[in-house]
Amino acid sequence: MPATMITVSKDKVFALSNSKFSYVFRASPEGILEHLHYGGPLSDPLNVVSHHIRTQREVASTFQGGRYFNLSDTPQEYPSFGTSDYRFPAVHGRNADGNTVFSLTYKSYSIVKDKPRLKKLPSARGGDSETLIITLHDPLHKLEVDLLYTIYQDYGVLARSARFKNKGEQEIQIQHAFSSALDLPQADYEIMHMHGTWAREFNVERIDVPKSRFVVDSARGTSSAAHSPFIALMEKGTTEDHGRIYATTLVYSGNFAMSVERGEFEDVRVLAGINPFNFHWRLKPSKTFCTPEALHVFAPNGLRNMSHLWHDFIREKISPPQFKNIARPTYLNTWEAAYFDVNEDKVLTLADKALEIGVDMLVLDDGWFEGRRDDTSSLGDWRADKDRFASGIPALAAKIKAKGLKFGIWFEPEMVNPKSQLYQDHPDWILHVPGRTPSLGRNQLTLDLSRDEVIDYLFGQIDDILSCGDIDYVKWDMNRNMTEVGSAGQSRNRQREVSHRYMIGLYKLLKKLTKKYPHILFENCASGGNRFDLGMLSYMPQGWISDMCDPIGRLSIIGGASYIYPLDVMAAYIGPSPNHQNGRISSVQTRFLAGVFTAARGVSLSEAEIEAHKDEIIHFMKLAKDTADDMIGGRFNRLILNHNEVCWQYISADNSTVYVAYFHILSAPNLPFRRAYLTGLDPHCEYMLVEDGSRYRGDALMHNGMPMPYVSTGHVRENTRYMAKGDFSSHLFIFKKAAP
Ligand code: GLA
Repeated sequence: MPATMITVSKDKVFALSNSKFSYVFRASPEGILEHLHYGGPLSDPLNVVSHHIRTQREVASTFQGGRYFNLSDTPQEYPSFGTSDYRFPAVHGRNADGNTVFSLTYKSYSIVKDKPRLKKLPSARGGDSETLIITLHDPLHKLEVDLLYTIYQDYGVLARSARFKNKGEQEIQIQHAFSSALDLPQADYEIMHMHGTWAREFNVERIDVPKSRFVVDSARGTSSAAHSPFIALMEKGTTEDHGRIYATTLVYSGNFAMSVERGEFEDVRVLAGINPFNFHWRLKPSKTFCTPEALHVFAPNGLRNMSHLWHDFIREKISPPQFKNIARPTYLNTWEAAYFDVNEDKVLTLADKALEIGVDMLVLDDGWFEGRRDDTSSLGDWRADKDRFASGIPALAAKIKAKGLKFGIWFEPEMVNPKSQLYQDHPDWILHVPGRTPSLGRNQLTLDLSRDEVIDYLFGQIDDILSCGDIDYVKWDMNRNMTEVGSAGQSRNRQREVSHRYMIGLYKLLKKLTKKYPHILFENCASGGNRFDLGMLSYMPQGWISDMCDPIGRLSIIGGASYIYPLDVMAAYIGPSPNHQNGRISSVQTRFLAGVFTAARGVSLSEAEIEAHKDEIIHFMKLAKDTADDMIGGRFNRLILNHNEVCWQYISADNSTVYVAYFHILSAPNLPFRRAYLTGLDPHCEYMLVEDGSRYRGDALMHNGMPMPYVSTGHVRENTRYMAKGDFSSHLFIFKKAAP
């Protein structure tokens, strides 16, 4: 079948084009890959008018004597350093001569139907896609680099990666190898990125692009809560429904870097890939090195448009397909109900509570394995504690299943406590460097997943439990950042490869387990959102987005994450009040509604807390169950966001039900009447508000707006909808679409 989305002219202009965007570049007469266009779809992309203008720049060095041609002024697809471009390059390394100058020029191209999977790394699935592979080479140092570009028929996402091949006879040292470079023309851009820490993930920051280089990165061994692997370059003043956006993320869970650099001539370079800091890869003759995959979105119409493009793609091409369109079970998790104080009787009692409140699954969190009474011991010894779980996990799982519940269990496989059998037996299986005491994090050490024997051990331990056949769900946790990153399994001069080799090992383990147990629902967790990224979400359909269970804290976390991730991949339960993370007191309703649009909902409450609010909990768990099908595959929209209010809208995938959740944070007298302008409705249809049967036209809800409930501190009038008095109140509207 001939390529339909990729076209090539005889003078080597390459265009990738679908109904959502066009991406165009050319091989210049000098062999440099020059970027020409990324943006709205072009009807004749090989003829872009925005050809790069060449002019004489005073003081600039010219590339290999070319007249008016200097690389600092040239938008490129994969720039290197040392041949007249002074900006941060996509690739840097040391060649066999010992110097760091590489010059990559065009060699050849090929087009493949669909999309090759990356070797050893997760990557977006293909299907209705085409891939352009451009081969660049440095004939002097016998380095070849394949640049892979995949475009899809129906998605606004461009996937890119780079593949390094040493064609020479001497070793090449790669010091950094980004997955992609995007050189965009001068414009008034802002950057949007997300930062945070434990229990405060996904805070959005917007800043003007500085006249310098701006970097978000991680050197923690995880993609991290400190900086999400996401960056958006936006037309200044971009709003939910206005503004051109170029957004980038990675299908990777380890140390990453993303940078935005405004060059001396004001064009803007975006780089994304493995963090060059503390990275180094020895590429032996005939060996290949693949970068992780970078994903780019061009959204012409603001943040809502950008989020929808990401959400559609992630659901279809990243999330494990066997859970697509599968409603997630509601659950009772033991963590905030009992912490480490779990035993078989208590878990069975909580299972009865789970039945009483009508949830589908009991999840046994931390504390079930040999000797684990607090967080100082036992990670690594994945056998049931004999004193507290005398009959073992398979028997417990069977008992819980016999009650009609599903059963889930917690693991933190990548870790070991010094106080454990595993550490006694294999002290060299941890990440460490000779002569230094390894730093502890939550009293634990990180296992060296770059070693095959560690992967095999972990697979064996986990498999022992999962093979009983009664496990429906696994929470995969990871509760510290890496330090003293070194491996006894690697030679001295490969120590700077260890962080990346760890990720390759982790992905290998996840692939093996999820392949053997495709029906088990894996939930990604790293102290909440310390490794919430598309690498992990390639294996796991959902993630515990944050340990923050206070609803007000959670609003900004879910809201921030929603810029890229669909809420289908998030889990959020009702935690205790006063909240254990920030002490806030809030209603069961607000605690539930803050996570109402996430796919996986439940509770983590003690028996006493359940008893104290039983009717309300039963009501909300029934609502969770009744809406479980709707919370997969629908459309999420942010309607209102200010210092004191949040309003979100969610439309079910079949368009039959529209949910609007409104949160009013601090109460005050004499507040204005607020409206939310709904979006994406059928303008000519009627929508019936379930709570009182009133009917509204779709166009009226979108253009005239829906009055939000009023927070009253004074007199109550009859024709006004009120929220609970006081702080942290919330309301959920449910509209049913009437037949046209
Ligand atoms: C992490 C997780 C929590 C819980 C604990 C158990 O903090 O994020 O949800 O599982 O570990 O130790």
